[in-house]
Parts: sequence; structure tokens; C-alpha cells
Amino acid sequence: MCGIIGYTGKEEVKEILLDALESLEYRGYDSAGIAVSDQEAEEIQIFKCAGRVSDLKRVCADEEIHAKCGIGHTRWATHGGVSNVNAHPHQVGRVTVVHNGIIENYKELAAEYRLNGQLKSETDSEVAAAVLNALYNGNPRETIYQAVSRLQGTFALVILFEDFPGRIFSIRNVSPIVATQSEEGCMLASDVTALCRFTNRYFVVPEYCLLELSEDGIALSDMQGKAVEPEYMEVNWGLNSSDKGGYPFYMEKEIMEQPEAIQNTIQNRIVDGMPDFTEDGVPDSLFVNCERVCVVACGTAMHAGLIAQSLVKSILNMHMDVELASEYMYTDPVVDEKTLVIAISQSGETIDTLEALKYARKQGARSLAIINVKGSSIARASEYVLYTDAGPEMAVASTKAYTTQLALIYLIVAKMAQVRGVWKEKQVKEYIAELKRVPSAIEKVLERRKEIHLIAKNILEAKDLFMIGRGLDYSLLLEGSLKLKEVSYIHSEAYASGELKHGPIALITNHTPVVAVVTQTRIMQKEISNIKEVQSRGARVILFIKGELLQSLRQEIEIFTLPNLRDEFMVIPASVALQLMAYYVSSDKGFDVDKPRNLAKVVTVE
Ligand code: G6P
Repeated sequence: MCGIIGYTGKEEVKEILLDALESLEYRGYDSAGIAVSDQEAEEIQIFKCAGRVSDLKRVCADEEIHAKCGIGHTRWATHGGVSNVNAHPHQVGRVTVVHNGIIENYKELAAEYRLNGQLKSETDSEVAAAVLNALYNGNPRETIYQAVSRLQGTFALVILFEDFPGRIFSIRNVSPIVATQSEEGCMLASDVTALCRFTNRYFVVPEYCLLELSEDGIALSDMQGKAVEPEYMEVNWGLNSSDKGGYPFYMEKEIMEQPEAIQNTIQNRIVDGMPDFTEDGVPDSLFVNCERVCVVACGTAMHAGLIAQSLVKSILNMHMDVELASEYMYTDPVVDEKTLVIAISQSGETIDTLEALKYARKQGARSLAIINVKGSSIARASEYVLYTDAGPEMAVASTKAYTTQLALIYLIVAKMAQVRGVWKEKQVKEYIAELKRVPSAIEKVLERRKEIHLIAKNILEAKDLFMIGRGLDYSLLLEGSLKLKEVSYIHSEAYASGELKHGPIALITNHTPVVAVVTQTRIMQKEISNIKEVQSRGARVILFIKGELLQSLRQEIEIFTLPNLRDEFMVIPASVALQLMAYYVSSDKGFDVDKPRNLAKVVTVE
């Protein structure tokens, strides 16, 4: 959470910071600010305000800002409300700071260093700035190490010292910072998306190493002052792949990108029609030697885990736990060296997922991560990683990350069925051949998006909505329902349709739209009966159904027929249809689809 940027180099810094902050806004958009270090004026100027980066741009528009070094921040509020004064950067004496994370002992520090008279905001971050200022002895390295030895919690701190113009210092614990150097200058950021337009090479700053950016380049050193060689890696996202590409919102663009994203994710992992993780360095033994499999994840990624659970159960006849990462360590999980823990995360930075993974590894579990962002914290904390090749996902509501996670899950399940001897080669090949048909099935849904737009128009006024289905349909509806509620603010709940009559049916009236998904042949008749139950109570049903199951239904229901795939794979086209429905409801209501209120895409606080 919170986006951080820093630049020092040959170019004027204002536009660089503001553009980068815009590309980091999905990490938080409560307030924004920049601090620039103007060599001639020998002072640090700060511009900040509550609101979006677009508001900050207006604040800066009339200002003569001529500086080639600066830092910026876009905030997701934790300590202290959304206000100008709580916006970063925070300046105390000669120290100016932007911060991502939480300083847990900020109250104790404020008392110990008698800071209260100096603090203007309610933030823990300003306390960190004040501690740095209190300890400042003219030597940034000594000051920073002394200060961070007192901080408890997580932090990515980026610091300007007034008497070191043109220099940016940074140190971190848990919260990420990446950095790079290009012809234009040196940059750091809280994630690689902000660096993409300059270069595709970057490195992750190791925890508790001091990063210094200056016109001389990048210096990285450990706590003893010994130089540390940055470990550069490359991201294969196009330099402009974080643009909206002509779409009004990232969410629409990202929904449309799914056929290609899935294709990219699977193509190099299928060799002779069989799943193959050789290039990823993931050994088959990982899948043979485990007795238990457990997914830890949050939000949409956890919903991908639920699909994995159904597949593992039905295909491998194996038990699998799916744990909310935030609950994992506190619910006495059954985990040992025979457990394979699969951490799923788009960002690779969700702190709950990271902590759950670390906990499981401490108990001896083997680990595999399914991650979109290369080199992210969860990727580095896991023994093995499979990267989804979704490219940058900028909309807060996750779409292509989810379906590419599913694509990898199908490959993992096929690999497990192969190496555990559950399936013969022919069966694995048939299954993989069907997976390869998924991108074109998605295309078919996307081509008919106008029909989904019409369906969406019929639920614009809904206050409450239910989504019902059974088996895999229920699991995918949990995600469909989350999508709708987060971007449209309509209260939506997904229910296993058989469960409806045990309570929730009391809420069904003729004002309640019910979205039903029917894609699973063996339970289709029961699903239809459940639909009739809600229809008889006045509900208006919108049905997404696999085309070949359609014939036995009466036509008074609003129907969208989904392309036919084997039942296991219907999750993906059905999910895409629900993503589109959520998207159109939100955009038709005039909401900022990509930045729903109160949310952030990267959740680095517990
Ligand atoms: C946030 C995002 C969700 C995402 C969840 C987990 O809540 O808004 O879209 O599913 O975090 O994020 P991760 O990066 O771990 O997949």
C-alpha cells in the first residue's frame, strides 16, 4: 500500500514524479505529494494535498518547480485520516520523508524523543521523520541505521536530507522498494510498474541495506557499510504496457487482454502436449512427495485457490485446504514437511500471504508461489515460483491476474495427475488440449460483450443482488460477486444454490436480481430447480449457462449462453462474462472503475 517514487538525474523531476505517481496510484489514492530538492535554492520544497494525483497536478500546475531530484508518494491512509496535513512527504527539521508501511511503536518513540511539539500530522510516518531528525548528526548512513534500529513494524523509507541536495536515501523492512539506473538518471519506486517507461531492468533493494541515489549513480551497502552488488532482473512487460491502450479504464483493457495473457502463461509450459515446468525450475518431485496441499491467499487470489481445491478433490481425489492468508497462522493450521503450500498473489506483496507462507515454511512445508510480479517479496520467500504472464495489472479489481492464476492451476493439476499416476498420458493430453482452447472461448465471450452490457443495464438500480450456483459454479461466483461489489458498490452475495433455502431466500423479493451460473453438467438439474425456487418468489433471474445445457430451460429468463468447453474449464469464460457485467455496471453508473473507494491493489498492511 502507498506508492513511492524517487528520481535524481539529468531531467526536470516534476513531471517524472507526477507521471510515476499516477502509475502507482492503484497502491492508494487518498492523498498525494512530492518533495523536490532544488540545488540552486538549497531547500526542499513540498507540494501535497488530499485527493488524487490529478489534484496534486493542479496544485503543482502554477508552481515554478526547477529541480532534478525529488521524491513522491500516493497514500492509502492507515494512521490519520485523509487530509492535506497527513499527506506525505513529511518534513521535520532537515529531514523529509515518504513512507510505506506501519511504524507500530510510533507513540512510544514520540514520547521518548519528546516529539509531540514538532508533529503536525497524526501519522506514524511523521514520527519516523522526526526520529531521523532528532538523531541526525550530519552523517546520513549513521543516522538512518540508528533510527531504523528503533523502529518496529514494516517500512520502506525514502529520505532527503536538506544538506545533501541531489541525493536520495532509502532503507526498507518488508515493504518493497525497487530501483534502477538508466541514461536519464537513477530511480526508485515501490514497484516496477513505475520504472517500466524508463527501463525493463531493475533490482529489489535487500532489507536493511542502504540505497543511495545521486548523480554518481546507485550505491547499495549493508549495515556494516560494505558495498552490496545489486541483483538486476528483467521484466518482460512492454515499456508502455501499463498504458490504457485506448480504453477508458484499465479494467476494460485488462479484461480484453485475457486471451493473450492466458496464451502467454501456458504456451511455454506445454511441451508435446504435456505440462512442463522445467524452464521454471519446478521439479516433479514437489508434486509427488506431498501428502497435503494448502493454498494461502487473499481476495481474488484466494478465489482462484477455491477452484484449485475443487479440481484437486475431483481429479486427484486428494484433500486440499484453502486458507485466508490473514487467518492462517491464528487458526492452528495442520502443516508439516509433507505439506505443499501454494501461495497465490498477483502483486507478490500482500503481507498476509507473505507472513502465512513464511509461517508454513518455518513448520517445514515445501512451497510454490503463483505470482504476477517478478522478484516480488512472496516470489523471493518461496522455494519455487510460477509466474503468470499477465503483464501489469493496474485496475484495482483483478481480472487477468485471476484467469492466468487459473491457467497455471489447471497446469499444476494436470502435472500432479501425471506424476502421481492418477491419469495416463492420453488423459493428461486431452485435458491440456482443452486448456489450449480456453483463449478462443474467452474471445467468443468478449465478441458478445454488447449483450452483457445490456444485461448490466438491468441491474444498475439494484441495491442487493444474489449470485447462485453449485460446485465450480459456486466457487467462480464468489469471485464474480466480489468483482461486482467492489466496482459497483451493489451489495452482492454468492450462495451455493442449495443453501439458499436455509436462510437467504428470505431476502429474495421481486426487486432482487439473482445471477445464476450453470456450467456443470452433472448438477445442472439441481441448479435449475434452485433457479425456479427463486423465480417463484418473484426474483428476476439472469442466467449464464453453458450453451449445450440450454435446451431444457424455459425462455422467460434473461440468458447469456457461454461457449462450450469441458465442464472443468467453464470457470474461465463464465468469470470473464461476470467481469464484464461488473465493469459495465460500474462504468454506466459513472464510477471511477479502476479506483473503487477505500480499496488499494497492493495490500502491505496486516
Ligand atoms: C487487494 C486487491 C485484490 C486482490 C487482493 C490480493 O484486496 O484489491 O484485487 O485480490 O488484494 O492481492 P494479491 O496481490 O495478493 O493477489
